[in-house]
Amino acid sequence: MTKTDISAADIDTANTDRAADINRAAATTVDPGLSTGEFPDYMLKEIYEQPRVLQDILTGRYDAARQRLVFDEITLTADEIRSLRHICIIACGTSFHAGLIAKDFVERLTDLTVDVQIASEFLFNQRKHRENAMVIAISQSGMTSDTLDAVQMARANGAYVVAITNVMDSTITTLANASLYIQADIEIAVPATKSYTAQLAILTLLALYLGQERGTQRPTEVALFYAELLDSVDKIVRILASQSLAKIEQAAAACAQAENILLLGRGTGTATCKEAALKVKETSYRHAEAFSVLEFVHGPIALIDPGVATPVVALLPADSLDDATRDVLFKAKAYGAKLIVFTEESEQRLVGQVDYQIFLPKATPIQMPFVAIVALQLFARHIACILGCDIDNPRYLSKVVVSH
Ligand code: M6R
Repeated sequence: MTKTDISAADIDTANTDRAADINRAAATTVDPGLSTGEFPDYMLKEIYEQPRVLQDILTGRYDAARQRLVFDEITLTADEIRSLRHICIIACGTSFHAGLIAKDFVERLTDLTVDVQIASEFLFNQRKHRENAMVIAISQSGMTSDTLDAVQMARANGAYVVAITNVMDSTITTLANASLYIQADIEIAVPATKSYTAQLAILTLLALYLGQERGTQRPTEVALFYAELLDSVDKIVRILASQSLAKIEQAAAACAQAENILLLGRGTGTATCKEAALKVKETSYRHAEAFSVLEFVHGPIALIDPGVATPVVALLPADSLDDATRDVLFKAKAYGAKLIVFTEESEQRLVGQVDYQIFLPKATPIQMPFVAIVALQLFARHIACILGCDIDNPRYLSKVVVSH
């Protein structure tokens, strides 16, 4: 596999860039030329920007005449892509959650298996060198120290590193072999929203590209899948304009005083719930934790406090709502939980049995991570609004986490 080795000089240059990043991050202020416009805060503005951002990313990569995706930034030859043996995704925070979903997409669309690791933990990984490994490093800012350290380690171990970032010429781009931009424009609110769905979009396209190059996806399949992805944009537009908005706000109001909010999902839904839990924690300073539905009965269900009707928020598209899942929900209800369930719009099996049922547009397994998180971002933000929190600038947090 052709790789340009990272040299000591590269690392020195990157470290000089990192010192500049630290200063830049410390001096980060909102450009006075920018404004929230008709929105009360940047977080809400950025939530509403998601359809446009996704549309831009998706339309730039597909060659319709040839039914092929194009990723010119990736310098590996088709043979080298076919000889990849392993993919590892590294990131922090929200970007890590995008990686959890990307694992499902890559494994669904290719014959590769994927590890997803928190960047700071990757540094403790005992298995340093793998033959023919691709590392995908995700960082909105391109400046997160833990992710940069992990990228340097991956390069030193011989991996081909693909960086996914929103910031042109950020440090991560100087360290990686290839950089893919998510084109989300500047994201001002500390709680990441549009950068997350933009990361999901580029990761999904990358997964499909790997499938195309490895021969696991034929051109007609690439075309169909691409159309399915584009269709998720319309579904997000529908949520943002739907009658579900009022329901989401009512459900958020019912959770605002709870000290503890438990979220349940299945498959990629669990990863989506982890991201929603992070949004609740950072915007509202409420404890929120996500679990896989069936794992909930192996301990976490004891967290339900009947005295305060602990909210249990479940994300259950039709393919997740089997008998075993329903059993868990009804157990939680019997133990005193307040049940808030996000389902697809035609779902009738829970009607009258939960406290709040919020309808999402019907979506395929590939579309649901895009669609569901938008509703959950709104849910988290509304809790913070009710509590009077500083939504764009939560306490103790900054847009870029750098260390010296
Ligand atoms: O810039 P990065 O994507 O590397 O940042 C990683 C995390 O610090 C970031 O996603 C953080 O978790 C967000 N504030 C979450 O909304």
